[in-house]
Formats: sequence, structure tokens, C-alpha cells
Amino acid sequence: MSAITSTDLPGFKKISSGKVRDLYDFNDTLLFVATDRISAFDVILSSGIPGKGKLLTQISTFWFDKLFPIILSDGTQVGHHLLEKNVEKMGLPAAAIDALQDRTLQVKKCDIVKIEAIVRGYITGSAWSEYKKTGTVNGAPIRPGMQESEKFDEPLFTPSTKADQGEHDENISVEEYRRRIPEPLASRIEEAAITIYKRASEYAATKGIILADTKLEFGVDANGTLVVVDEILTPDSSRFWPAAGYQVGKGVDSFDKQFVRDWLKSVGFDKNNPIGPEIPDDIVKQTAEKYYEGYRMLTQ
Ligand SMILES: Nc1ncnc2c1ncn2[C@@H]1O[C@H](COP(=O)(O)OP(=O)(O)O)[C@@H](O)[C@H]1O
Ligand SMILES: [Mg+2]
Repeated sequence: MSAITSTDLPGFKKISSGKVRDLYDFNDTLLFVATDRISAFDVILSSGIPGKGKLLTQISTFWFDKLFPIILSDGTQVGHHLLEKNVEKMGLPAAAIDALQDRTLQVKKCDIVKIEAIVRGYITGSAWSEYKKTGTVNGAPIRPGMQESEKFDEPLFTPSTKADQGEHDENISVEEYRRRIPEPLASRIEEAAITIYKRASEYAATKGIILADTKLEFGVDANGTLVVVDEILTPDSSRFWPAAGYQVGKGVDSFDKQFVRDWLKSVGFDKNNPIGPEIPDDIVKQTAEKYYEGYRMLTQ
């Protein structure tokens, strides 16, 4: 199986190409196509991971089916953007179907809220780096004496900016988040993100997986309803830790990308070079296996 790192749909208007996904206009909806591209430190690498886009798509639809709808404390409902996951039912030209199979969702066109809604249950990554220096996470003081990878007393909402292509997202305080996002949207997104994190982590625990943190994107659909857009609870947007390997006081390897990230660090990868390196075949293969293992553990 070879990696699909770009798509081209003759007759369709490509409206964006992100780190992983290509978006096409399709009547009043969007075709949301997950390629096999992989990014690390916000740089798209030259090699793809065969089958990754299909696995990410299957993981997202699994969660969309499982977690929604969500009713918030003010009685409003939060939905998701997925309209159709079966390419055969989208009314696409026959020639397009093969390439799009299993990696394409037809989704509602939404106004994207320009924020990354991150929820953390465990202290790791940039939160751990900040805490070690200042005792804070996204600027807010956290109980002293926490160790690396320890569980927070309660899941934390730690938003970041949604950077333009090639830029890096930046963590912001909840106060700054509330300055940027108007009410009641800000409170609804925060509550929805925490609810999704809690439900998903309870489920993941039954499969031997710790959901350390996750990043969600929200939008508003044509009816003004708040919806979760983009991918949801995939290994690209979340840290999944095998519960069996979990230990407080040290870093935990997640499924998936950590592998490529560690390899990049070991070869002295320059984050500021916009052209990502080729990944050696054995790292590609092991990473593909990791994605598959994560998918299997979660969904079966
Ligand atoms: N329902 C939607 N309507 C409009 N835009 C969307 C929708 N769902 C996702 N998007 C946008 O599509 C892009 C997905 O591509 P991706 O490769 O994941 O991007 P990124 O590099 O930003 O992670 C994101 O910019 C996201 O904001
Ligand atoms: Mg994305």
C-alpha cells in the first residue's frame, strides 16, 4: 500500500489544503478528505503514512456516532458536522469514488471559531514544560508538587490560538480566550469540550487507553447551531496512552506520532525548515502499525 499525500478531484473546487486534509466544495456542503500526510511540530513531512487518512476518518466517525448529541447546561444542543460517511451515497462521479473511499466525509459547511479547544486530563507536553518553569498551565496557577504525566484534579480547559498555515499555535489563558470569543459561545465551547473529553476518556479507559488530552475545533452551522468540526479524538488531535505503560513521574509514549517526533529529535530536525524530511521506511512502517493498533484498541 502506498501513501496518498495529495488529492486532485477534477471538476471540484479545492478550497483548502491543510496539514492533513484537502477540502472541496460540493454543492452546499464540503468534501473533507483525509490524506496520508503526517505533520510534526506543525511541519508536513515529505513522506506519508499509508492508510493513516482512512484510520483517522474511521476513528472520527466512530466518536461522532458515539458521543452526540450533547446537551449543555443551558439546554442548547451541540452537534457535529458529519453528514455522510459512505462515499457511494454522496452522489459523486464514479471515477472519484475509489480514491476517496473510507477517507472522505461529506460535512456541513461551517463558520470556524478560530480557536483550538484543548482539554487536558494529565500534565504533559507544553503544559508540563510551562508548569516546570512557572507552576502554571496557560498562565493559571496549578497545585504545587505535580509530577510529569500526573492526572489533574479536574480536566483543564487550555485553549490555544489557531495559527495560519506554517505558524505555530500558541497557548492562551482562559481570560484571553474569553476576550476573543463572545458569550454565550465561549462558555458553550468550554463546557462542550470538557464534556466530550470526560465521556471519551471514560470510554477509552474501558479499552485500556488513557486519553491524556485532546484538541477540538468548533464551528457554527447555517442554523446557528454549535457543532464540532474537523477531526475528533484521533491520535493526531489527542494523546492516547496505553494504560499498561502509564507511570507517574516520567514521560509516557503515546501511540502514533510520538514515534516520528522522537526520530525527528534524534536526527536534529529543524522545526523552522518548512520542508519536512523523508521518514525512513522502517519508521513509516512502525508508525502505520501504531495508528492501526490505536484504532483497533479503541474501536473493538
Ligand atoms: N465543517 C467545516 N467547515 C469548514 N471548515 C472546516 C470544517 N471542518 C474542518 N474545517 C477546516 O478544515 C481544515 C482541516 O484540515 P487539516 O489538514 O486538519 O488542517 P490543519 O492544518 O489546520 O490541522 C481546518 O483548517 C479546519 O478548520
Ligand atoms: Mg487538523
